[in-house]
Amino acid sequence: MKKILVTGAIGQIGSELTIALRSQYGAENVLAADIRPALNESMQSGPFCRLDVRDAAAVNQVVEANNIDTIFHLAAVLSAIGEEKPQQAWDVNMNGLINVLETSRVHQCALFFPSSIAAFGTGASSLDTPQDAIQRPTTIYGITKVSGELLCDYYHHCFGVDTRGLRYPGLISSKALPGGGTTDYAVDIFYAAIKIRHYECFLRTDTQLDMMYMPDALDAAISLMTADCKKLKHRNAFNVTAMSFTPQQLAAEIQKHIPEFTISYSIDPLRQAIADSWPRHMNDSAARAEWGWQAHFDMPAMVKDMLEKITLK
Ligand code: NAD
Ligand code: SER
Repeated sequence: MKKILVTGAIGQIGSELTIALRSQYGAENVLAADIRPALNESMQSGPFCRLDVRDAAAVNQVVEANNIDTIFHLAAVLSAIGEEKPQQAWDVNMNGLINVLETSRVHQCALFFPSSIAAFGTGASSLDTPQDAIQRPTTIYGITKVSGELLCDYYHHCFGVDTRGLRYPGLISSKALPGGGTTDYAVDIFYAAIKIRHYECFLRTDTQLDMMYMPDALDAAISLMTADCKKLKHRNAFNVTAMSFTPQQLAAEIQKHIPEFTISYSIDPLRQAIADSWPRHMNDSAARAEWGWQAHFDMPAMVKDMLEKITLK
């Protein structure tokens, strides 16, 4: 990785991945790109360009002009917004990915594509969900994730593109707010706990979902992209996980730090149905065996760190 492009760089993952990559590979070697203008300071720490990934010629031009050799392709529409705007989700998630894959083929770039727990549906076992399980998602977001995994496999097998990917669980982070997903409650709850000591949760009290703290998510992406390719049997995409909890369990952990914090529930049927179709905890033994994946943050460590970071904001 010498010259890196991050698409969707202003989003929840991109804001932090861009900084992590710049500190390892040099600020001038990591080009951040997004359809939105760069307003936050993390984007101003190095080069930035406006880029709509649906514009094939523009993607090709940015890669060629900047001698890019590695792309972290994060631009996407997430699950909850995807259900409200399915055509837009398909357009951004699939046409954006095929443009980035084609450019990677032409310019021989390595490509990171994040898939999701959403790539599974109710047909797969929700606990200890195997790496190779049936994938019949019921959301447009999940459908674009399975299709993306398959397209990345295809570009590797047919054209030799070095595609690699992870199935992330819900990600929790303190820098940028999440962008319209179903697991967003697990970030929103911290801001509400600190500001008003109360959170009204849109998922049911017992909705158990797979989760990960952002430092582990960044570590997973960079470790996979620098792993020995000869050892990778599952390139697209590896199950990775770190913790699994319900809103009730998360609230109880926050109460250890803020005893007066309370939680109530006002269920959003759309996001509840999405959450009910997703794994509660994936099996990530393939990632552990093939490239040494290991998470460092469990739920108590994540809660402590989140409260400290958000309080300091
Ligand atoms: P996000 O919604 O926070 O950020 C996505 C970014 O993409 C935004 O900054 C947005 O402006 C940009 N974007 C949207 N349309 C674009 C377009 N046409 N061209 C260029 N940029 C465009 O999302 P995120 O949470 O950072 O997720 C990044 C990737 O990781 C996505 O593929 C997502 O599916 C995947 N993922 C995220 C999570 C999570 O919990 N955050 C979990 C699993 C997988
Ligand atoms: N956190 C993401 C979402 O809720 C999962 O991919 O959409």
